[in-house]
Amino acid sequence: MINNLHTWLLLRLLLLWLVLSLVIGGVVYYLGNVRLDNHIVNMAKTETESYTTAVASYLKSPSESALAELNRRIEVEIEQDNLIVVEFYDASSNKITDVVKPSALEVESKLPKHGSEFAEHTSIVCNKLIQGEDTFMRVFVPIFDSSNSKIGYLEGIYLAPIEIIDQIRQQTLWSLILVVLVIFATSMALYPLILRLNRKLIDYSHNLALTNIGMLKVLGSAIAKRDSDTNIHNYRVTLYSVQIGEMLRLSRTAMQGLIKGAFLHDLGKIAIGDAILHKTGKLTDEEFTIMMTHVQHGEDIVRGYDWLKNALDVVSGHHEKFDGSGYPLGLAQDNIPLNARIFSVADVFDALTSKRPYKEPFSFDVSVKILEESMGSHFDPEVARLFLDYAPVLYAEICNDDEELLHGKLEACIVKYFDVAVI
Ligand SMILES: [Fe+2]
Repeated sequence: MINNLHTWLLLRLLLLWLVLSLVIGGVVYYLGNVRLDNHIVNMAKTETESYTTAVASYLKSPSESALAELNRRIEVEIEQDNLIVVEFYDASSNKITDVVKPSALEVESKLPKHGSEFAEHTSIVCNKLIQGEDTFMRVFVPIFDSSNSKIGYLEGIYLAPIEIIDQIRQQTLWSLILVVLVIFATSMALYPLILRLNRKLIDYSHNLALTNIGMLKVLGSAIAKRDSDTNIHNYRVTLYSVQIGEMLRLSRTAMQGLIKGAFLHDLGKIAIGDAILHKTGKLTDEEFTIMMTHVQHGEDIVRGYDWLKNALDVVSGHHEKFDGSGYPLGLAQDNIPLNARIFSVADVFDALTSKRPYKEPFSFDVSVKILEESMGSHFDPEVARLFLDYAPVLYAEICNDDEELLHGKLEACIVKYFDVAVI
């Protein structure tokens, strides 16, 4: 159980680490690329600015000699920066001149061309181009005169320096590694914290379960004190019921309800007056009507506490009969909850084989015969048959045990079905 918890927690923390690393790492990677692009754009803009001043001067008074001077100046400048192409256009998109860095002629010829779609722009436009391992930025810069009228534009192709790209990529990589390590460290720091919280939660749950079982025991003892001054009937009917439930392979939750219900089946008798509860003679019809209300009283008490609610099937249905002649609702067959049908067999068998103020115990054989005769009328025949097939063993194991021995056996059932060590 503990090892499973460790593995479960580790796997989920690793999954959390992986998911967070992918999400946050993706964001960091994206922001790194945005930063790289912005850096290249800014550098490209900076390098093209000096050319716009030169061409603006030419456009004010164009001439052959001024154009030759412009070309010469551009050829000198382009060798000193990262621009590989500089082209100038007038306001009608007619090319005035262009200069290509001689060392970049081959690269420039492979770059995609463009039309006049940028001629109308009145602000700087940048387009990123990737060619092999090189990153280029195509920059369009509008040129205005003193009256703020567009008189032409410049197109430059900027080759991003590989060392700048490498530097920014390396910074992004280190940021990624740092993010992944921080998330891993945080996830691992949560591991002992969650284990500790889980341990505390288990302790609280265990204490709560102990409290609930203690309350079950106190309530059972309270009604036993009023009814018969001993817990022994409650212990035996609970143990018989558990045996039948196990033979029927009930779920763990159903078994818990069966144990609670068997232990508290007559809880409502607390509300029945002594004159009727302790009467040794036969009850009158009026007294029996009052006695029957112990079922409703039991339901009212059990319904008041959520942990006891799955005891309701037995508490409310333990006097119903398979043929519909029982009380309080006269339910029949499968309409009677299975736990109530199980308990009914256990309750009557124990009543028959026990000594009561008004009778001596019946022998095992007589008790079995009475049960067999009531199959299909009082009892679910399948449940009763299952019990009777195993009854000799149960009778030998349980019927003659004293209260302490039975208490020990019931404690073992509680440990098995409620995960608590003490009742
Ligand atoms: Fe009862």
